[in-house]
Amino acid sequence: MSSDNLIQQAADILRTSKNIAVLTGAGVSKESGVPTFRDAMDGLWARFDPQQLATPLAFLQDPKLVWDWYEYRREMVAKAKPNPGHLALAELERRAPSLTIITQNVDDLHEQAGSKNVIHLHGNIARSKCFYNCQGDPTVVDVSKIEYDKAQGPPPCPHCGRWLRPDVVWFGEMLPVDQLDVAKVASISADVMLVIGTSGLVTPAATMPELAKSQGAKIIEVNPDDSMITRIADIKLDGASGEILPRVLEAMGKNA
Ligand code: OAD
Repeated sequence: MSSDNLIQQAADILRTSKNIAVLTGAGVSKESGVPTFRDAMDGLWARFDPQQLATPLAFLQDPKLVWDWYEYRREMVAKAKPNPGHLALAELERRAPSLTIITQNVDDLHEQAGSKNVIHLHGNIARSKCFYNCQGDPTVVDVSKIEYDKAQGPPPCPHCGRWLRPDVVWFGEMLPVDQLDVAKVASISADVMLVIGTSGLVTPAATMPELAKSQGAKIIEVNPDDSMITRIADIKLDGASGEILPRVLEAMGKNA
């Protein structure tokens, strides 16, 4: 657990910063009950490797398997509620309106917590789109309006009749260009970047802290373990984001 001294240092940097960027990963949603990508899966899914399921090739080889796995993940995300870490970030944005959250998460827990300025680099698990984006990229479709036989696999695209898929970024796919551009601008303009709950293994998201640092931003990391980002962090706060972030907010308040 991080010392009060480090927490206070982080709070002082945040309080005196004009532009705050926040990069979040799966760790920030863990205390909401959403397992990270690299956590072992249980039950039916224990024998599958998520990295093998989250690819266009896996989908083409077995659309039903990949669709069912995303249905399982969707159910977990649908049940999840924002945790104190999400709520603290929303409060930080109220205090510092120029704050931008760049998230790799496909849930909407930041928005549910009240954050407004959120960039999703890896898509949105609640949405579906045509696998072929037959009406343009992305061809988003409301699955709740489609009747289909779940035993047969994913629902058909109402435009072209081919498969629908989750609107998330899979391994080997490009990130949405507009979101990536905004994320880069937020990183370059930041005086400080908070890096929370990410292993820093997946690029280009993982390059944002380096980008921010190259332009003079301070890097504050919140993670119970070390990550690929830790070596460039100016301050490393060891612990769960749901515990650390409320403490940082409280420390900001003290000397405000
Ligand atoms: P990872 O699963 O790689 O890493 C989660 C990080 O969260 C680890 O560094 C943990 O130590 C940390 N962590 C665990 N519990 C935490 C807590 N309570 N508070 C704070 N941190 C905690 O997740 P990501 O880095 O988000 O991509 O993974 C990046 C991308 O890889 C994902 O978006 C996904 C995946 O493949 C795609 O689907 C394209």
